[in-house]
Amino acid sequence: MKKVYDVIIAGGGIIGCSIAYQQAKLGKQVLILEKRELCSEASSAAAGMLGAQAEIDENLSMLKLALKSRAMFPDIIQELEDLTGISIGLVNEGMIKIAWDDVEAEVLKKQVRFHKEWDGQVRWMAQAEICEREPHLSRGLAGGMLIPNDGQLIAPNLARAFAVGAMARGAVVLEGTEIEDFIFDKESVEGVMTSKGSFYGETVIAAAGAWTGKLLKKADLELPIFPVKGECLSVIPEGPLIRSTIFSDSGGYLVPKKDGRLIIGATSYENEFNPSVSFGGVRMLAERAYKLLPQLASARWEKAWAGIRPQTGDGLPYIGWHPAYKGLFIAAGHYRNGILLSPITGKMVSDSIEGTAAAEDKELYREFEIERGLKKVQEGWIR
Ligand code: FAD
Ligand code: GLY
Repeated sequence: MKKVYDVIIAGGGIIGCSIAYQQAKLGKQVLILEKRELCSEASSAAAGMLGAQAEIDENLSMLKLALKSRAMFPDIIQELEDLTGISIGLVNEGMIKIAWDDVEAEVLKKQVRFHKEWDGQVRWMAQAEICEREPHLSRGLAGGMLIPNDGQLIAPNLARAFAVGAMARGAVVLEGTEIEDFIFDKESVEGVMTSKGSFYGETVIAAAGAWTGKLLKKADLELPIFPVKGECLSVIPEGPLIRSTIFSDSGGYLVPKKDGRLIIGATSYENEFNPSVSFGGVRMLAERAYKLLPQLASARWEKAWAGIRPQTGDGLPYIGWHPAYKGLFIAAGHYRNGILLSPITGKMVSDSIEGTAAAEDKELYREFEIERGLKKVQEGWIR
């Protein structure tokens, strides 16, 4: 008799693994299918910032979701570290979003007023106060927004902890297994066809990051999901140079890790699946970082890498059921914030499968359903 899993997850990045963890915790039989190795794509490239307020200030639903997710970290990290023994390296020293001149300062001061409404600890820092808190930073700053509750962690470790935690709760993982097609029975999904044979499940979840758009074409669905490549590099300073994450709206950031490394990110190239690292990208990151933190000159080089962010065009992920095929769920398109949004995404998907979402959550979750993507395509969305 053929084995039927409760849940098959297509894609073993942090999103697939967080969903797997929540479902396995409920005693569900979970199968994760990953074409390469677990957490080897965007989820291992991420800088690990939990930048709910540093990165999100336009879409209120996205901000609410991000704040909910940010609040889940202390408990979920404790739970995963206890269960797996993997050190996730959470650092709660906040972020400083910096302004280089008066024009940028005005924009940031507006953001301070907005974000204070959501977290009373957010505040403006004058240049002198930044110098006192971060004495090695450039004296050329015009000030910054302090976000004490935007923490950071070691992203590949969190992703791996979700995966190992799911396996500890009974989930099965098949790496090197590419999903090639779905198996349908009339209007329901029954399973998937892969490079290693067919697998059957009650629910199939498409969580293949930037590759989800391609996969969903096999389920007669065109959703706007496209790649945005990002490059980062890391160095090891002789001693700690900064304690907070330093973030700038122009896309640059410095993230001091618990293990002594400093991650410098990131570039951004739309429609780029090629994971190679460019010399121009490294040069730009290095110059930007050096201007901000001149003492980096003596830091030891560690490495550079690239990952492919899954973008949707409006910056919001798609988290919802396929409009036509029963049992097929989509959880993809987390763009720049998939690490931050990983705990809440696992919960949202589990709530949706189990029908356990609270009324207030249901209302928020609706904002992420895929209808908006279908509308975009109907209106001639091109990327
Ligand atoms: P992925 O990690 O890409 O996983 C998708 C998986 O699906 C892959 O392993 C892939 O091999 C697999 N797959 C694809 N197709 C198939 C198929 N047909 N069959 C089987 N498997 C398949 N986010 C933050 O919150 N904070 C940050 O600081 C941050 N920094 C970032 C820095 C960089 C440079 C980059 C690139 C991203 C950053 N992000 C950050 C974004 C974050 O990394 C992503 O949003 C997140 O990792 C997406 O997770 P995912 O599981 O959807 O995708
Ligand atoms: N969130 C940081 C990045 O995507 O580069």
